[in-house]
Amino acid sequence: MAAWDLLFRRVHLATFAGDEPYGMLRDGALAVRAGRIVWLGAERDLPREARAAQEIDGAGRWLLPGLIDCHTHLVHAGNRAQEFELRLQGASYEEIARAGGGIRATVAATRAADEEALVAASRPRLDRLIAEGVTTVEIKSGYGLELSAERRMLRAARTLGDTAPVRVTTTFLGAHALPPEYDGRADDYIAEVCDVMLPALFREGLVDAVDAFCEHIAFSPAQTEAVFRAARALRLPVRVHAEQLSDSGGGAALAARYGALCADHLEHLSDTGAAALAAAGSVAVLLPGAFYFLRETQLPPVARLRALGVPIAIATDCNPGTSPLSSLLLALNMACVLFRLAPAEALAGVTRNAARALGRVSDLGTLEAGKLADLGLWNVDAPVELCYHLGYNPLALRMFGGQISGAGDVAQG
Ligand code: NIG
Ligand code: FE
Repeated sequence: MAAWDLLFRRVHLATFAGDEPYGMLRDGALAVRAGRIVWLGAERDLPREARAAQEIDGAGRWLLPGLIDCHTHLVHAGNRAQEFELRLQGASYEEIARAGGGIRATVAATRAADEEALVAASRPRLDRLIAEGVTTVEIKSGYGLELSAERRMLRAARTLGDTAPVRVTTTFLGAHALPPEYDGRADDYIAEVCDVMLPALFREGLVDAVDAFCEHIAFSPAQTEAVFRAARALRLPVRVHAEQLSDSGGGAALAARYGALCADHLEHLSDTGAAALAAAGSVAVLLPGAFYFLRETQLPPVARLRALGVPIAIATDCNPGTSPLSSLLLALNMACVLFRLAPAEALAGVTRNAARALGRVSDLGTLEAGKLADLGLWNVDAPVELCYHLGYNPLALRMFGGQISGAGDVAQG
């Protein structure tokens, strides 16, 4: 048999494949060749003739799929700490947005930054995710709101992915907010998004998916649908920010009609919206960082989503306004404590279901032969500990595409 590049021995596996919640396989081994998982199973079942160029003794640690942060606005300039102060004095997110702050404040800062500055400002956030075992990150545009600034954001996202051991998928979120120069002319701005910005950025290879913010302070269902139609014409998958602040738009059901990969936030999702997601097979991406930071009290309908079999993903929503969070481990804890997800559900939400939300489940998100070897080896007695600790990162070793890219105190032979 051909030699393997690398073999993990004496590891427990949480595969997130199959029916059992964690997909646990104790006393296992996992082999990697040419950047992919080629064998996994019980160590006692290792083929007698198995040979590997390198062996790693896991010493009873837990091996999981690399973590996936499937919703971020990681590329941006500046921060909104002053708005945080205002909100603590009683101003609401909507009031600040209507007064020209909020997303528009970050738009001004981002428009003023060149591509290099955007990369430099964003890299530490990405590095913090990587240090926690994240191997795939979705990054949205949406703080440029004009062609050249949206391009700079997406190019910065691509540069980050090209220069760090992480897969970056990009999402065009031109329909995030109305830029000030289009005040009172939202339909004209949407036409610009659909007819000019999206086709140009798509042709430049900068767009993997298309998102829109469907909300009374952002875009109407009709405007959101126009964006989805433009995406469909280019055969791009869609997703949506919906039912975050109100149940006014029906954005999730609308996205489901366009076969959305996912609908995100969803605190105010109606039963009809949940049923539409279930019928379309879309993922519900829950964002506990934004819920926490906005002191939201309306919980997303987790029990309903569960009952309908809607896959649930968890992400940081890393952004300067509603979720200045660059820890997916903390998002896991929040999903359990605030949303009452079971730890196995939360972990499936940053592995298998997050991969599905990015349309990448054939390559990523579970430990299975044939998938890309993006892995994390964790210094824990059980996977639940990834959700349990606060402010402690038990990552022992990270593998990206078959390459070790961050090791702690793990013995390598
Ligand atoms: O996901 N909901 C809209 N967009 C972001 C917030 C962006 C901002 O406030 O800068 C979100 O919460
Ligand atoms: Fe978001």
